[in-house]
Amino acid sequence: MAIYILGIESSCDDTSAAIIKDNVILSNIIANQDVHNNFGGVVPELASRAHQQNIVPVVETAFKKAGIDKEQINAIAFTRGPGLLGSLLVGISFAKAFALGLEIPLIEVDHLQAHILSHFIHDENKMPPSFPFLCLTVSGGHTQIEIIKDYFTFEKIGETIDDAAGETFDKAAKILGIPYPGGPFIDKYAVSGNPKAFKLPIPKAEGFNFSFSGLKTSFLYMIRDNLKENDKFIEENINDLSASIQKTIIDTLMEKLIKASAATGINTIAIAGGVSANSELRSRLKSESIKRKWQVHIPEFQFCTDNAAMVAIAGYFKYKDNNFAEQNAVAYARQGKGLRKP
Ligand code: KG4
Ligand code: ZN
Repeated sequence: MAIYILGIESSCDDTSAAIIKDNVILSNIIANQDVHNNFGGVVPELASRAHQQNIVPVVETAFKKAGIDKEQINAIAFTRGPGLLGSLLVGISFAKAFALGLEIPLIEVDHLQAHILSHFIHDENKMPPSFPFLCLTVSGGHTQIEIIKDYFTFEKIGETIDDAAGETFDKAAKILGIPYPGGPFIDKYAVSGNPKAFKLPIPKAEGFNFSFSGLKTSFLYMIRDNLKENDKFIEENINDLSASIQKTIIDTLMEKLIKASAATGINTIAIAGGVSANSELRSRLKSESIKRKWQVHIPEFQFCTDNAAMVAIAGYFKYKDNNFAEQNAVAYARQGKGLRKP
């Protein structure tokens, strides 16, 4: 018999609900929150309020689009963390009430694990990655390389020691006066820019780790110095500035990914998280795959940034593993609070 799971994602500023039938997504509804655009980042209090307004209509739309009844759902999967506590609480409370009302089990999902498992959503045009594979997970809050051994066993071999890659895109965008989230705008401006126009320092960190805070500061100082000479510096150079910062971030990510593949001997490489939507990262990965004979796995755009389809697929694997959550499960803000095997 088919397994139907409702997935709920509310860890940051997107309210999302998805319904999955086994590994096939029937609906994946995402409500973005525009309230943060002018603040240069997510305002936690505003995010929780927006989740409260969005959650019921988003779930209702997910059911309508999937064309199924609530009674058909076998379990509800929710993101337990990491993320903003106030935001997570909205999704978690909704999931608990839904599970109680329908007398169905709850499944807790780790947000980063969900990003990675989105590669296993059924797609008739491509095969999922085979284990073990390396995954570079790059989002607004995290940047890490892991060896994915099976659906539940991930070994982290490198991570950022300060800012995340998405955060660096967003902070660079803020310096350029671009609204939050700036990553997609930088990507767009960079298409018409020269990536070599402004030389920025390649950030250094040990092993497979990353560091982006120095790059952000160099970018800020370079712009500040140029603005002293020319107050139209940003508007006259927005494309080149975007292309240059983007190239530096992507060069840094690719350098460590290449190093990790060489050191582990793993040639199946995946990317996940919001920054995996970046066109430069996607094309660099494709060109490296030809050069290095990598098998690369790049998520569909709708599964890069936060979405509940990824929570639903993670829920599906946990359901089959009989791994259910208690009604007293509490949200956690930081990674590594017990959902993953070491
Ligand atoms: O995974 P995600 O939706 O949320 C978190 O879990 O953080 O990632 C959001 C991040 C933001 O920093 C956003 O600017 C970045 O992903 N992002 C991009 C692009 N699309 C989203 N960064 C660069 N290029 C893009 N095309
Ligand atoms: Zn995310």
